Amino acid sequence: MEAVTPLIEGGIFAYLNYLVPAKRKEILEILVNGLKRMEYRGYDSAGVGFEGTNTKNGSHELKTIKQKGKVARLEEEIAQTTDLDFEKEFDTHIGIAHTRWATHGEPSPTNSHPQRSDPSNEFLVCHNGIITNYKDLKSFLITKGMVFESETDTEVIVKLVKHISDKHKDSAISFRELVELTVQQLEGAFSLVFMSSKFPGECVSTRRGSPLVIGVKSKAKLSTDHIPILYSKDHRGLMNPALHHTDSTTEFHPIGNKEVEYFFASDASAIIEHTNQVIFLEDDDVAAVQNGCLTIHRIKRTLDESATREVTTIKMEIQQIMKGSYSSFMQKEIFEQPESVVNTMRGRVNFETNQVVLGGIKDFMTEIRRCRRLLFIACGTSFHSAVATRQLMEELTELPVMVELASDFLDRQTPVFRDDVCFFISQSGETADTLMALRYCKQRGALIVGITNTVGSSICRESHCGVHINAGPEIGVASTKAYTSQFISLVMFALVMCEDRISMQDRRTEIIQGLKNLPSQIKAVLETDEHVNTLARELYQQKSLLVMGRGYNYATCLEGALKIKELTYMHSEGILAGELKHGPLALVDKAMPVMMVVTRDKVYPKCMNALQQVKARHGRPVLLCTKGDTETQKYAYNYVEVPQTVDCLQGVLTVIPMQLLSFHIAVLRGYDVDCPRNLAKSVTVE
Ligand code: AGP
Repeated sequence: MEAVTPLIEGGIFAYLNYLVPAKRKEILEILVNGLKRMEYRGYDSAGVGFEGTNTKNGSHELKTIKQKGKVARLEEEIAQTTDLDFEKEFDTHIGIAHTRWATHGEPSPTNSHPQRSDPSNEFLVCHNGIITNYKDLKSFLITKGMVFESETDTEVIVKLVKHISDKHKDSAISFRELVELTVQQLEGAFSLVFMSSKFPGECVSTRRGSPLVIGVKSKAKLSTDHIPILYSKDHRGLMNPALHHTDSTTEFHPIGNKEVEYFFASDASAIIEHTNQVIFLEDDDVAAVQNGCLTIHRIKRTLDESATREVTTIKMEIQQIMKGSYSSFMQKEIFEQPESVVNTMRGRVNFETNQVVLGGIKDFMTEIRRCRRLLFIACGTSFHSAVATRQLMEELTELPVMVELASDFLDRQTPVFRDDVCFFISQSGETADTLMALRYCKQRGALIVGITNTVGSSICRESHCGVHINAGPEIGVASTKAYTSQFISLVMFALVMCEDRISMQDRRTEIIQGLKNLPSQIKAVLETDEHVNTLARELYQQKSLLVMGRGYNYATCLEGALKIKELTYMHSEGILAGELKHGPLALVDKAMPVMMVVTRDKVYPKCMNALQQVKARHGRPVLLCTKGDTETQKYAYNYVEVPQTVDCLQGVLTVIPMQLLSFHIAVLRGYDVDCPRNLAKSVTVE
C-alpha cells in the first residue's frame, strides 16, 4: 500500500460521556467548541449528530443539525432549534461533529457531516479525507436500492455500513465489526467517527492516512497506559474468535467507578483543554467505546507493528498545536507541500500505467480538444502558475496559449470566441477580477474551466467544468502550497490533452515520472531552510531585490518577487533574463541584491550569458542552481541548490527557496507573516 499522506480536510470532533451527568446544552457546547478549535482545518460548513431521547415516549433517536458556513452559523442554528430540551440531563451520551473543507459536493447542509445511512439516522458518520473509489461503491449501493441525497463521497461510507448491517441482521455482529467490514472496501485516505441508533452509547472510529486522536478524562486511575491491540485475524490471516472476546485485561477503562469521558478529534488542539491524556491511533486501527470501556482492534497483525497503543501525556499549548511546530500558517503551508502535491495528484496520476485522469473535466475533453485557443486568466500568484506552465501547454497541446491578468484582460475587452477554452485559476474561487473575466468569456460562448481550491466558490460554480487542486485549506494570505498545486494541476491537464499523441509518449512518461519524484525532491529543497535563513540575514535590510531567470524559471522570478513584496514590503522585481540588456542591467552594481535562477535546461547557456553580464557590472548574484552544479556555482556570490528534475517541473522546486526567503526576511523584519499589511486572502472587490 502506498504511503498515504495525512490529509488536512476539515476537522472531526466527538464527545462521549459515560456516567458523567451533563445537560444537553453542555454537551452541544463541548461539541461546538471542539469544532471551533479546528476551524483552521476547513470551514465551509459544519454539523453535529447527537443522541436524543424523546421525553414523551422515551424513544431514543439520533438528531443532526447541519449548516453551511463557519461554526458560528451552526451555533446559531442550534440555538434556534425549538424541539430540543437543552436542559435535559444525560449521564451517557455521544455527539459527533465536523467542520468541513469540501472536496466533493459544494458547501450546504445536505453535504455537511454527519452523513446518514437513512432518514431514520440508523448510522451516522463524520469523515475527513477522500474516498477514491466512492463512485464504484455508490453505483453498487444504488443497485441495492440505496437512495443518495448528498453529492459527497462520505455518504457512501455510512450507507455501506447499513448495507452490511442489513445483510447481518440475523447475526449478533458488533458495531465495531460492521465498521471493520466496511473500511476494508474503502480506498483512499480517511479518518472516521461513527455512531448508531442500533448501538446507543457506542462510538466507533478508525483512520487511514488522516489523523485521529482519542482523549480520555476520568477522576479514577486508568487501567493501563498501554492498551493491547485485539486482532480479528491471527498472523496466518485466520479469523480468531477468541480475540473478539474482551474483558478487564483487554479493555481500557477507569479502575473502580466507571465515570469517564472520551474525546475523538482530528488533532489534539480540540482535546487539550479537556485532558492531556491521549491515544494516537495508527492507520487501520479500529477503536470502539462501549459502556465506558475502550478497545482497539486491528484486522490482522503485521510482524513489525506494536501490539499496544500508548496513552501519552501531551504538553502542547492549543495555539501551538493548530500550527503544529510552525510559527505561522504560511510556514506550515510551505512545509506541507510534499503532502499537498501528493493530494493534488491522488486518484488522478497512475505512475505505473502513466495515465492521467481529471474527473472534473473528463466529460468535456472532446469539446476542449476541438478548441482553437487556450486562455489562462488569473491574478497574482495564480497568474504565475499559468506563466509557469505556458511553455509546456504550448508544447503538448500545439495550440495558441494566452496567459492573461484578469484585470488587464477586461480593460482591453479582449476578443473571445465560441471555440475558445478559458481557464480561470483561483485559490479562493472568489477573486472579483477573475470572476468578472469569467463572466465576460462565458457571455461570449467560450467553454469555462475552473481551477480552484475551494469547492462551492463562485468561480467553481459558474464554470462549466473544472479541477479541484486539493491543496487543503490555505490560511496564510501569501499563497504557497496553492501555487505548486495549481502548477501541477495545469501540468496534469497538458498531459491529458496529449494522451493519444504517439509522438509525445516519451515526453509524457518523462514528465509523469518527474511528478512521481517531486514530493521527495520538495522535501530536499525544504532541507535548505537553514541555509536560506542565513541568506535572509544578509538581505533583510536591503531596499530592493532583483530576481532574474528565463524559460521554465521565469515564473519563479515573478512569483518570488511577489512573495518578497507582499511579505517583506521590500521592493522586488522579477526580470526576464533575456531582457536584461534592454534596460534592467542599468540597475546592476555591486550594491544591488540580485538573485538568478540558473538550472541545467535548454536555456542554461543564455542564463550563463546573463550571469556574465551581471558579474561584469560587479553584481554579486545569489544563484538558484541545480544540485551539484559546481561549474555554475563558481560564478555565484552565494547559491541555493535544487535537485535536478524534468525541465518543465523545475519551477515547482525553484519557487520554494523564494517562499522560504520571503518568510525569513519577513520574520527578521518583525512583520506578520500570515496577515501582511494592506492585503486580504481573497480580493473580492475589483
Ligand atoms: C498571492 O500570494 C496573493 N495572495 C495574491 O496575489 C493572490 O494570488 C491573488 O489575489 C489571487 O487570489 P486567488 O488565487 O484566490 O484568485
